[in-house]
Amino acid sequence: MCGIVAYIGDKKAFPIILKGLKRLEYRGYDSAGIAVNNGTELNLYKKAGKVVELEKFAKDKDTSGNVGIGHTRWATHGKPNDVNAHPHASGNSKFALVHNGIIENYAVLKEELEKRGHIFKSETDTEVLMHLIEDIISKQNCDLFEGTRQALNEVIGAYAIVVISEDNPNEIIAAKKSSPLVIGVGIDEFFIGSDATPIIEYTKNVIYLEDGEIAKLSLTSGLTLKTIQNVEKTPYIQELEMKIETLEKGGYDHFMLKEIFEQPRSIQDCMRGRLMLHQNYISLGGIEAYQDKIFAAKRLIIIACGTSWHAGIVGEYLLEELARIPVEVEYASEFRYRNPIIDENDIVIAISQSGETADTLAAIELAKSKGATIIGICNVVNSTIARATDCGAYTHAGPEIGVASTKAFTAQVTVLTLISLLFGKNKGVIEPARFTRLMHELNAIPSKVEEVLKSDAYIKSIAEIYKDAPNALFLGRGINFPVALEGALKLKEISYIHAEGYPAAEMKHGPIALIDEEMPVYVIATQDASYEKVVSNIQEVKARKGKVIAIVTKGDKVVKNIADHVIEIPKTDDMLVPLLATIPFQLLSYHVAVMRACNVDQPRNLAKSVTVE
Ligand code: AGP
Ligand code: GLU
Repeated sequence: MCGIVAYIGDKKAFPIILKGLKRLEYRGYDSAGIAVNNGTELNLYKKAGKVVELEKFAKDKDTSGNVGIGHTRWATHGKPNDVNAHPHASGNSKFALVHNGIIENYAVLKEELEKRGHIFKSETDTEVLMHLIEDIISKQNCDLFEGTRQALNEVIGAYAIVVISEDNPNEIIAAKKSSPLVIGVGIDEFFIGSDATPIIEYTKNVIYLEDGEIAKLSLTSGLTLKTIQNVEKTPYIQELEMKIETLEKGGYDHFMLKEIFEQPRSIQDCMRGRLMLHQNYISLGGIEAYQDKIFAAKRLIIIACGTSWHAGIVGEYLLEELARIPVEVEYASEFRYRNPIIDENDIVIAISQSGETADTLAAIELAKSKGATIIGICNVVNSTIARATDCGAYTHAGPEIGVASTKAFTAQVTVLTLISLLFGKNKGVIEPARFTRLMHELNAIPSKVEEVLKSDAYIKSIAEIYKDAPNALFLGRGINFPVALEGALKLKEISYIHAEGYPAAEMKHGPIALIDEEMPVYVIATQDASYEKVVSNIQEVKARKGKVIAIVTKGDKVVKNIADHVIEIPKTDDMLVPLLATIPFQLLSYHVAVMRACNVDQPRNLAKSVTVE
């Protein structure tokens, strides 16, 4: 979700860190900052915008020092501005910290620290961790390593952190849990990076920190590795053989594939601090202030474009089923020109990964002009759409670089599921046992996505068979109909094959005329209420020599005997099938596009954010 770089050794730290941040800029670029210890004091340089803005800002300043930490931010808490940029200093300016991740319990910690006299400058969760470390060091009169270790035992959430101290320029402290951190081991010098790209040109000897580990990198005592429970660990140093450009994609050939495989973590991050499993409730702080108005609404209107519009249709099924509220889903580009009947009682949900789509923004402004309340579901913090809405919930999927949206889609559906559960429980229309069952099932989705991703090689073999088919049909019923639409969009937008998504029952009203032995038909045939009907649709296709590739519930025996290929996904609640069924279609379209030598990450004619009408 962001980039961390640090250095300690005999060279000037600032240029090494700056160059490393530029290599990590793809991980997030709301702001950038570097702190260096010049031997007597800590100097911080930080600036909103890309790394080049930081470079300009620090140009004529004293950036000397051979120990330093740097960060490119992907904001989760607090606007992308200079003050919220990392590194964050302690109250006494004796320490500086950079962080990748989310401190879920930052508000509780902040409240306690403020009672103890701590004064905060930023809106971030990160600054709270820095003050917590400072508070422990001053109370226990312990060193930075021990203070950081104890503080991390009080933290709930995800972190990769690096901390330095003004009084001890010979050491750096690093720790991680759920966010990545790599240590490069040089000769009398150490490097740290969110991945190996800032490190590999200096040394190939790296240590990938494990969750719950904390390290001290010292020019006098070398490397010390422990768990945050204070158990000594032996560092495992491995030699990297990867090329830099491959590393930027996390070892994957394309950003799209990396982002497909990030979905277990991005869905987990999206639920972090919101799916309160043990307390059996949903917490969506970003819409709390408007909950009364939202829960009193007689209908919801969802506006979006492209993949986000497909997520909106999944949301329609979720909200109508779980919250029993009428939902209308509109293409933003149609809504804005339709003179819609809308008033101050209406709630509009605007979905946008980039938060910059012109049609969606214009539709929001139109709805606002008619008095509606707007909820935003965006991935980019403080984006134009995020700022135009009254309230909202970020998807926290991290930067999505591939033009074809993948992890943003599943994160949007996850947020819509959380909203539906919150809404249904508040209205008392979802029975308690079902609410609890869905909470637990939703919590299990990241591991079930991991399981689906294991079919990648098999899905690639299917792609090999159908990569030259000039057309394709995607079919689904109920909540899986929008998944069929999304599958078709994925295939057409990156492989340039004409593909259509249809409700399975609609096939006989026309599209069935297209079926012949050249036509691959991708069908979601999971064991839900419409299973038997979908099986009949598959029979209809087979009767006309069509090729059927079916996504089925693991262990399915019936479809296996009819379809040409079946891709199994784990059993889950019917309402959560879209989160799993969409993964095979993402992988299929990816492999077909690669086999057709298409530009997967930047398909022709497309842009990641359509900021024009
Ligand atoms: C999806 O793969 C496409 N890149 C495109 O349809 C996209 O979903 C659409 O342009 C909406 O973008 P947004 O979510 O950033 O508003
Ligand atoms: N949650 C922290 C912030 O919003 C860190 C975000 C990141 O990973 O860049 O500043």
